Amino acid sequence: MGFYDQQIFARFYDCVMDRPHWAEHRKRQLADVAGDVLEIGVGTGLNLPHYPPNVGRITTVDPNTGMNKRLRRRIDQTGIDVDIHAISGESLPFDDATFDCAVSTITLCSIPNVKRAVAELHRVLRPGGRMFFLEHGLSPDTKVAKWQRRLNGIQRLFAGGCTLTLDVPALLATQPFDDVTIDNFYMAKTPRTHGYMYEGVARKADTS
Ligand SMILES: C[S@@+](CC[C@H](N)C(=O)[O-])C[C@H]1O[C@@H](n2cnc3c(N)ncnc32)[C@H](O)[C@@H]1O
Repeated sequence: MGFYDQQIFARFYDCVMDRPHWAEHRKRQLADVAGDVLEIGVGTGLNLPHYPPNVGRITTVDPNTGMNKRLRRRIDQTGIDVDIHAISGESLPFDDATFDCAVSTITLCSIPNVKRAVAELHRVLRPGGRMFFLEHGLSPDTKVAKWQRRLNGIQRLFAGGCTLTLDVPALLATQPFDDVTIDNFYMAKTPRTHGYMYEGVARKADTS
């Protein structure tokens, strides 16, 4: 992570993302999360106030330590038991089948080797565990997708490596989740290039 990502992007992140329409989706998306939770790309902790009370410990993974000041403030405000790891989601130092739930919101777009990160998430989920995701990605509208491809370079440069063209269903299909549900919509008050959303849950097969 370079100076821009740690100092500038991190500082202005909440100005753009700490908004009521995003909060509404975070709350809805996290309503069924329970038990021991892994959140990758936790950022400034904007999800923390929306976790339900039956969540135990939350383990977070994010290499951008520039986000930590706001993250720690939110941890103090919510009183949730949070274990912070300043590492990449591409290689997780946790045993297989450690977590009941995994959470990723607007994060998969920023991970360089995102296939590897999803494989790691799948590995550390217990059988029957669920990955909750709220991600933006490739629009099925050809005009929007064309603009997403055009804007990708500048987006990657100024938004922490974020790509606008992630094919979320194809990515999830690289792992043997046995049940995947996805809702698609354009996020309110967001340019269509940046706000085609994939919100859903992927369940790891329970073979026991
Ligand atoms: C757009 S922000 C989303 C933050 C937060 N999840 C939210 O919903 O507000 C993307 C986050 O992914 C993190 N990130 C970037 N590369 C990563 C990686 N390799 N592993 C895990 N997180 C990563 C960034 O540091 C950043 O905090």
